[in-house]
Amino acid sequence: MKIAILPGDGIGPEIVAQAVRVLEKLKAEGLPLQLDTAPLGGAAYDQYGDPYPEVTQKLAREADAILLGAVGGPQYDGLPRDMRPERGLLRIRKDLGLFANLRPAILYPELAGASTLKPEVVSGLDIMIVRELTGDIYFGQPRGIHVNEAGEREGFNTMRYSESEIRRIAKVAFDIAQKRQGKVCSVDKANVLECTEFWKEIVTDVAKDYPAVQLSHMYVDNAAMQLVRAPKQFDVIVTGNIFGDILSDEASMLTGSIGMLPSASLDANNKGLYEPCHGSAPDIAGKNLANPLATILSAAMMLRYTFNREDAAQRIETAVKTVLQKGYRTADIYESGCEKVSCSGMGDAVVAAL
Ligand code: NAI
Ligand code: MG
Repeated sequence: MKIAILPGDGIGPEIVAQAVRVLEKLKAEGLPLQLDTAPLGGAAYDQYGDPYPEVTQKLAREADAILLGAVGGPQYDGLPRDMRPERGLLRIRKDLGLFANLRPAILYPELAGASTLKPEVVSGLDIMIVRELTGDIYFGQPRGIHVNEAGEREGFNTMRYSESEIRRIAKVAFDIAQKRQGKVCSVDKANVLECTEFWKEIVTDVAKDYPAVQLSHMYVDNAAMQLVRAPKQFDVIVTGNIFGDILSDEASMLTGSIGMLPSASLDANNKGLYEPCHGSAPDIAGKNLANPLATILSAAMMLRYTFNREDAAQRIETAVKTVLQKGYRTADIYESGCEKVSCSGMGDAVVAAL
């Protein structure tokens, strides 16, 4: 189990260190993990003059999975676009062909007060958004800004999906649903956009191979509304790149706690990049204040999706639930009556619970 550890910038090294402690604990108990570290983003620019340098490329390509903290920071704002830390992130995703982005939105009952929605609407929420990550209007050609036949300037992008691109992301969604509540909701705008009418047709065809999974379809505008009206109706949502970008951010915020949300981005062979949804939080970097749970839960997703070790994944997730039940809180999720802990203090608690 070869894992590339890319701490990145800001709080990245602090939160990744806690996830590494959790992995080291499992390794000490016999899980055959090999952990190697390399820089990405601003840290890599500082050391090698490139946000995704060759050493990191080599390590990332040879690894089975990658655990990433976060990249970026105000000190890099003046750099040319190609040298910016965020460019390192885009390049590694593209380099590894990571087309399936998995974003769970889980609200632990203990944190129901953190959501802006009523506790009864969100308590116990457990949605998985499967977003296609390498196609759609974000990549479709032609694109640009030009002067049209009427002599007026216009901007244009193209929404495109090939059949194989839709099939492979649909399969990811159905495979995941089989291990959950067995429900997939495919989100489209088939009443207006031919590209998504095609999406709907292909997803419906893939569903024939999954008789145990119940498939429904929803227009994206209605899905946006349903996510805040009655989010617990969803199990797995599968959708294209642009709709998924918006809906996954909306769904993640139902939980109200950015420090709790992991993510996975997978290729066709379940090689994956695992990272928290949040950024490098420069405002609290270096202060041992950050919440490491999103990164620790990303490590759990890695064991589940890349290494097929559901047992180990669940052990980590159970340990996280245990520390929340015991009342340990980092500052971002703190409520009175709980015990406030630092980033490393939360790591201590999770390792102890394991
Ligand atoms: P951010 O997610 O870093 O921070 C937003 C707010 O949430 C801040 O107040 C921060 O302190 C807080 N926060 C974030 N993670 C936290 C954690 N684990 N524990 C406690 N509090 C946490 O987003 P922001 O401020 O927009 O971006 C900061 C930098 O991060 C920028 O350079 C941005 O480009 C980069 N970024 C990187 C991402 C990545 O590496 N995947 C994703 C998003 C932003
Ligand atoms: Mg987004």
